[in-house]
Amino acid sequence: MKSIPFAAAVLGLALAAGVQAQQPIIVKVSHVVAENTPKGQASLKFKELAEKRLPGKVQVQVFPNSSLFGDGKEMEALLLGDVQIIVPSLSKFDRYTKKLQVFDLPFLFQDIAAVDRFQHSREGRALLDSMKSKGIKGLGYWHNGMKELSSDKPELKLPADVKGLKFRIQQSDVLEAQFRALGANPQKMAFSEVYQALQTGVVDGQENTWSNIYSQKFFEVQKTIAVTNHGVIDYMVITNAKWWDGLPADVRKGLQEAMDGATAYGNGLANEFNERDRKRIEEAGKAKIQTLSKSDLAAWQKAMAPVWKKFEPDIGKDLIQAALKANK
Ligand code: LMR
Repeated sequence: MKSIPFAAAVLGLALAAGVQAQQPIIVKVSHVVAENTPKGQASLKFKELAEKRLPGKVQVQVFPNSSLFGDGKEMEALLLGDVQIIVPSLSKFDRYTKKLQVFDLPFLFQDIAAVDRFQHSREGRALLDSMKSKGIKGLGYWHNGMKELSSDKPELKLPADVKGLKFRIQQSDVLEAQFRALGANPQKMAFSEVYQALQTGVVDGQENTWSNIYSQKFFEVQKTIAVTNHGVIDYMVITNAKWWDGLPADVRKGLQEAMDGATAYGNGLANEFNERDRKRIEEAGKAKIQTLSKSDLAAWQKAMAPVWKKFEPDIGKDLIQAALKANK
């Protein structure tokens, strides 16, 4: 008689262990932009590929538009294990490494293809592990596009047109120096606060890609967008190194493969999305798009050039040379 309850207990334990083991690993992916953007779409592609490769083993939850963690919070959350993957702009890593500041140097890259070539170089690949000592592992680079400058003023042709104006910038010391070099007044601010700050006049202008200017509706609250292409917004996909190394080997391999697939997919969309969104802004007819002559652009480049010297010691001359070599 006694043996039946014991057998039942053993069976119960075995069942519980079985059910426990089958729980999928939750992979939270958080970012600050809209879904209809290169990063938004690449994140959804990662979910699709990861769940296809690892059915029942992982569940990917994507949180766009700062809906889970915004700028300034997402890094801490990653290190605390409250989120597994984030995709910050390369301008937001100052607290973790100075090396990535190379991506913020004004007029360094002629286009996103040059950024891509540099990221595939030996030096570019090595940067993915430049924060391992801080517990951060880079899983890849995702593209957005070249930055344009916008303001609530009717003219944005030459550096003199931004003198004394307040500009929103990302959490970047290089970008702060860039606007100071123009005689403007930089304000570091989270992405999710930019639209309202432009609308209420807390800031007069900002710099961003066509994709972000369109998807965040910045063009509705700015008078002029100058086609400067003076810098890039590009991303590093990062994870918590301890969490990543602690994953079962097959899951880690499957997630890396899914990430590589999502990277290729998203990077293939980046130019197309930015061109599409520039057209949409033009068609909306709300903000004037100011194209600049070669001499106008040379004036912006000259005004921003002192920033290179200021940050060369932190970034390293070799890394800047390696990046420059990626231009054609
Ligand atoms: C910004 O803060 O302007 C961008 O980095 C946002 C993004 O992730 O594209």
